[in-house]
Amino acid sequence: MAFKILITSQKGGVGKSTVAANLSAFMASQLGLRTTLIDWDPHGSSSNWLRRAPNVGVLVQHLTLPIELGGNRPVFEARMHLRRATQGHDIVIADLTWTDALAGELMFEFDMVLVPTSVSEIELAATSGFLSRHRWVFDSAIAKAPALLVCPTRVHPEQLGSNIFTRQRFPVSFMLAPPILESQSARDMFETGYLMNLPNACGESFISFAQAVVAAKDIRMSHNEQERVNASFKQPVLNRAPLEPNRRLAQSPLNSAPKQVTTVFQVIPPAATYSILGRHRQRKAQEESVENKPAVNAGVTLGIPDFLKRFARGTSKV
Ligand SMILES: Nc1ncnc2c1ncn2[C@@H]1O[C@H](COP(=O)(O)OP(=O)(O)OP(=O)(O)O)[C@@H](O)[C@H]1O
Ligand SMILES: [Mg+2]
Repeated sequence: MAFKILITSQKGGVGKSTVAANLSAFMASQLGLRTTLIDWDPHGSSSNWLRRAPNVGVLVQHLTLPIELGGNRPVFEARMHLRRATQGHDIVIADLTWTDALAGELMFEFDMVLVPTSVSEIELAATSGFLSRHRWVFDSAIAKAPALLVCPTRVHPEQLGSNIFTRQRFPVSFMLAPPILESQSARDMFETGYLMNLPNACGESFISFAQAVVAAKDIRMSHNEQERVNASFKQPVLNRAPLEPNRRLAQSPLNSAPKQVTTVFQVIPPAATYSILGRHRQRKAQEESVENKPAVNAGVTLGIPDFLKRFARGTSKV
């Protein structure tokens, strides 16, 4: 079954289309995965990029969602697009600017929701608001929630040392991908090449990011497979008691993930300040993490690969 990734945010210009086009190219050319890009953006930036840059074998579809109709109609259409796109493919990547007219149910169609965000205060506030409004999706105990991966994009070198993600402002658990650096060379790649081929720190940052997505995808797929096996041997999923979000996190294969996974992304627990229940859950999660010593560091600092640290010290070029 194809793995479906939605790349979305409500903010314009954060790098959704850049990430969608380049991640699709990475999956197809570096991993040999049969990849489809669905571009739901009317401007067609990601589909144009892949159509005009050297062909790496991605199937490109520029489609329209009737967002203005609201309600279930866009979700229904998206489901149809996805059904067709997944046939004979390993991975489907969708590029979509989110609007309030879209029903959050659309996110349940995906295995992973990837939210690019720049790390300025104003952008982080918008990202936090977006996640807050869709907390019910990512915390859902009724339907299978998509994995949530937040990706800092267009990050300037001076922002690398910032501990912006340590502030407890996010209401849901999420995985934090390594940052993609801001660089003129990334803009120059538009419709001519791919970020993974840039021989500089920006190119390296993109590869670290893409590898993190692959690691998160593999974990999620093994989780899906485990659930499928459990369901076939035990009682139907619907009859099982719903899991608390933190227990789901504690039981997720992230905790038994191979060690190298810890270097590519980190799990950020939900903000404690949102509710008493939130504080209780976080205290429990902290107790459990001390007891279980999980393989993944559930801390809240931005993981910065070594080459980025070298870059921040001025010993490497963008
Ligand atoms: N890592 C980067 N470094 C420098 N510029 C970047 C980077 N990523 C994206 N950009 C530039 O930022 C601008 C917006 O990027 P992009 O179109 O990918 O964002 P978007 O979120 O899809 O925007 P929109 O909301 O308009 O669809 C483009 O000019 C793009 O070239
Ligand atoms: Mg776009």
